[in-house]
Amino acid sequence: MDRAVALGDVTLSEGVDSWNTIIFLYNSALKEVGTKVEILNDEFQQVHQYNPIEYIKSRIKAPESIVKKLRRYGYESSIDNMVNYVNDIAGIRIVCSFTSDIYRLAEMIGRQNDLTVISVKDYIKHPKESGYKSYHMLVTVPIFLSDRIIDTKVEIQIRTMAMDFWASLEHKIYYKFEGNAPDYISRDLRECSGIVSMLDAKMLQLNEAILKAKAAQEEDTGAV
Ligand code: GTP
Ligand code: MG
Repeated sequence: MDRAVALGDVTLSEGVDSWNTIIFLYNSALKEVGTKVEILNDEFQQVHQYNPIEYIKSRIKAPESIVKKLRRYGYESSIDNMVNYVNDIAGIRIVCSFTSDIYRLAEMIGRQNDLTVISVKDYIKHPKESGYKSYHMLVTVPIFLSDRIIDTKVEIQIRTMAMDFWASLEHKIYYKFEGNAPDYISRDLRECSGIVSMLDAKMLQLNEAILKAKAAQEEDTGAV
């Protein structure tokens, strides 16, 4: 079979057929990346008796949201524009226990030979103005069809449970006020984002202390 082509380079006619093909490709890409991430989690469990992932959510962006985003970017609604300019049509969110798990997972994902990392945004080291924190990776995964291979984009968001809690509440508030939340609410949200970081740091410390204490205990009983 020929080398993979990017979905953006495939000639697509407008219409229901192309739309269905594209959604099928993005769905397949979600399955591929989801399975890869699950395998990494299972391997980790096997080797370290520990699951870095609490849960995984994936979704295909709703057609109305795709159109809205294209409009926001100043592009008309066409299949070509959506494939080229909307990077999060297929999205997967990985929720971890600890911040250290995020970087461990990101590294493992980056090392997968058949994934191509297009870009990385570290909103943990550099939080957004809103207070938003997460680690984002835009990757492409090759989808093997009967007669060709098509590289398809997937947006991966990796965050802790605390970051996820914050983001889901902030998302609700943002939509309630359609982007015009009163200042004091935005300020309080940013403050909560600081508390989330504190909680994440504290939980990580606590986990390390637990592991250390447990190892010391085992050493003690082993020595008797
Ligand atoms: P979008 O055009 O909004 O997708 O931004 P972008 O293309 O610059 O991507 P970015 O990496 O900034 O954000 C992509 C996704 O991250 C969004 O679709 C949200 O799921 C999430 N996100 C980014 N910023 C925020 C935020 O301030 N609050 C919440 N709750 N989620 C956010
Ligand atoms: Mg987005």
